[in-house]
Amino acid sequence: MEENRKADYRFYGRRKGKKLKPSREILLDSFLPKVRLPDVAGQNDLDPASCFSLPVKSFWLEVGFGGGEHLAEQSRRHPEKGFIGAEVFLNGVTSLLTHLTGMERRGDVDENVGLAEGRVDNVRVYDEDVRDILPRFKSGSFERIYVLFPDPWPKRRHADRRFIGPKNLPVLARLLKSGGELRVASDDMNYIRWSLEHLMKSADFEWTAQTADDWRKPPADWVNTRYEMKALAKGKKPVYLIFKRK
Ligand SMILES: C[S@@+](CC[C@H](N)C(=O)[O-])C[C@H]1O[C@@H](n2cnc3c(N)ncnc32)[C@H](O)[C@@H]1O
Repeated sequence: MEENRKADYRFYGRRKGKKLKPSREILLDSFLPKVRLPDVAGQNDLDPASCFSLPVKSFWLEVGFGGGEHLAEQSRRHPEKGFIGAEVFLNGVTSLLTHLTGMERRGDVDENVGLAEGRVDNVRVYDEDVRDILPRFKSGSFERIYVLFPDPWPKRRHADRRFIGPKNLPVLARLLKSGGELRVASDDMNYIRWSLEHLMKSADFEWTAQTADDWRKPPADWVNTRYEMKALAKGKKPVYLIFKRK
């Protein structure tokens, strides 16, 4: 993590949760290095293609992937794309690794662990604050950026910690290709109002919704996330925003 981020690391809640099982420690030690984003510190104008050994040409970024269910499934469905996912919470990172290795089904793991059968090597994981790496990539690097069920920071005095907001939107706009999509979902109506306020103010983004169903219902290619499932189980109605980069 870069020096200037250390001071506000508290913004991102817990880094470590409950103690990891030994099998998950093995995943972190032996498998994470195989899929970890290469060190991009000091880079400018980085082409995301250089982070992959496969010849992938278009790239999707997921900010705060949580347990990684969405990232794992989208990358499985789209072997032709390169995925970069960032998550600061280590238990979330190991959960993603169980999906990528198929370990959630197999249950056994050793230091030779590799990708699950049928998967290609199209995911790169950044296990620290995503804001460290965003400025490193060249403009128009990503075709799609997902920010799904971001930490809501409900208190007004914490509003500047909300990921969607005046600090990060210009950064995300620079990284998206023209016509690329920023997809944001949340079950927190205050967060949705806040996001809409800032996205509508931005000259870089255009809301794609034509009818209420376009934000009330997830798009056809949607993959449920863990937080979304929790919200749905409580009877909440998440909102799905798709903004196009002009
Ligand atoms: C409420 S959870 C949602 C997780 C997941 N997207 C889902 O829908 O299940 C938000 C996640 O974003 C992560 N996060 C917040 N800020 C981040 C940052 N700057 N860089 C990387 N991850 C971040 C948190 O650690 C947390 O796991």
